[in-house]
Amino acid sequence: MSLTALFHDHLSERMHWVATALSATRFDTLIISSGEPFTYFADDQEAPFNTTPHFRHYCPLEGPHHVLKLQPGRKPQLIRYAPEDFWYEQLPLGNPFWLNDFDLVEAPTVDAVWEAVGKPMRGAYVGNELVRATGAELELNPSSLMSYLDWGRALKTPYEVACTEEATILGAKGHEAGRKAFLAGASELEIHYAFVQAVGCLDHELAFPSIVALDEKSATLHYEKKRGFRKGRVLLLDCGARHLGYPSDITRTTVKDSCDTRFQALRNGVEKLERELCDEVIAGRPWGQVHHLSHLKIGALLQEAGILKVDAEEAVAKGFTRPFFPHGLGHFLGIQVHDVAGKLASPDGSVQPAPPAHPYLRTTQTLTPGHLITVEPGLYFIPMLLRPFREGDNASRFDWKQIDELTPLGGIRIEDNVLVTQDGPRNLTRKHLPD
Ligand code: GLY
Ligand code: MN
Ligand code: MN
Repeated sequence: MSLTALFHDHLSERMHWVATALSATRFDTLIISSGEPFTYFADDQEAPFNTTPHFRHYCPLEGPHHVLKLQPGRKPQLIRYAPEDFWYEQLPLGNPFWLNDFDLVEAPTVDAVWEAVGKPMRGAYVGNELVRATGAELELNPSSLMSYLDWGRALKTPYEVACTEEATILGAKGHEAGRKAFLAGASELEIHYAFVQAVGCLDHELAFPSIVALDEKSATLHYEKKRGFRKGRVLLLDCGARHLGYPSDITRTTVKDSCDTRFQALRNGVEKLERELCDEVIAGRPWGQVHHLSHLKIGALLQEAGILKVDAEEAVAKGFTRPFFPHGLGHFLGIQVHDVAGKLASPDGSVQPAPPAHPYLRTTQTLTPGHLITVEPGLYFIPMLLRPFREGDNASRFDWKQIDELTPLGGIRIEDNVLVTQDGPRNLTRKHLPD
């Protein structure tokens, strides 16, 4: 199926959901804007602009101040902000594959954009142009409507899956280049640029700030600095690309042959259990259950390595796996990397919170065909989290000598993106990056 046809079906399906959401929340019109740039305080420099994801979800047009006017029964209207400008390049619209799905209005100024919006009756607004939206007498980011829209976004259309797959192909190229650079002795900064160059984008066009961590830095979960340090023994590379706004989110941990063999065995153990967990991405399964299973598997691996001296059940029951694996097993992936609706229990906005023992679990939903989720178990040596276990009755359950010897090597994370289908899990990542 062509991208044009996929997009047409995507937008039609989403417009049905918009109609349902508006009617359930007593609105007639949904106005979504692509957003206002952020200017640093007391400066004239702007942060790199990121189009509001709610806008991107309906229209792949990038840039600030565009507006979508969505009304059930009418063709979606795109009010495109198209100034003449000699300071910054304004790309011509051309004839993109998605254009025929919109009624296009071209507006040379922001005032003209909002004149075209008008003051629709019972209108809701999603975005950050609050002064403009207030002037248009719209209700700002109403939470009841946002929950409804988010609920629909959790179920990916074939267009979205195709975009994520393209982002995966790009991301896989970046990962191959990054790993090659690492094995040749490159620094974190050089590995980052090997990735960026292979993808062919600017830094801020990546899916998220890259995590390129050598040795002990790989135990900082979102390590974003880039040291000049070379010749690491362990590389944790968590990085993804984007295609038409949609990101991939991929992590690989590579160890050199010269690395401590005990750490190599742990890395291979995480790889094995990650693949097993990907097979558990099955419709009808509460994600919390898969997360619990991941702790049992990490517990078994730690026992096998002799790092824990209790079996997996006891390790999980007593919270011994948590300092080694302190984050959630995964999160929804969509037009946002940490996508919406992970904890929604229904479209009306009721929430199923993370259990107190696992506060960083981002998803508590039951898996449903169309959900796209990351599977990203980790095993880290994080001194601040292990410290409380060094004292007291449980201290003898840990092999502190081994822990201290492996701590300089940091940690391990492996991450794939998996689609829930009627026929079982579909791993989008391994097809393009097998190991
Ligand atoms: N890249 C951030 C994450 O995996 O959640
Ligand atoms: Mn990631
Ligand atoms: Mn992730």
